[in-house]
Amino acid sequence: MNTKKKIAIGCDHAGFGIKSPIAQHIIDKGYEVIDVGTYSSDSCHYPTYAQAVCEKILSGECERGILICGTGIGMSIAANKHKGIRAACCSDTFSARLTREHNDANVLCFGERVVGIGLATDLVDAFLDAEYLNEGNHVVRVSMIKDIENKN
Ligand code: RB5
Repeated sequence: MNTKKKIAIGCDHAGFGIKSPIAQHIIDKGYEVIDVGTYSSDSCHYPTYAQAVCEKILSGECERGILICGTGIGMSIAANKHKGIRAACCSDTFSARLTREHNDANVLCFGERVVGIGLATDLVDAFLDAEYLNEGNHVVRVSMIKDIENKN
């Protein structure tokens, strides 16, 4: 039986240039990667891929997701429209680690036009290597986020 944890990855045309090397890096870390596209540099629409990655997480097939567009911002806005998704757009490794530890983020977004492949790789490491600090005020605050989500 395949027991590897699965990571969903998606991008638009503006993130296509670094999606494959990032996916390979995640595979090299011991995960299975589910690549939802896009599969070329032809112009496309980032919400399509944000939705595809979020569905993989919400169905339970994938544990976490990575979304890449030009800035990471459009992907994070679209991803955060999904109930149960906490997506963080990061361009520094401290934030990429802390959004796991404090926010229990399940999607990391970044922009190919903002970060290069070196920093993108470090962001992925910081995000995937960190665990949620499932105690105290972190739990209270994430529960408050879920309450807001349920009311709106
Ligand atoms: C595409 O030009 C660009 O708008 C998109 O990749 C992303 O940066 C949006 O937030």
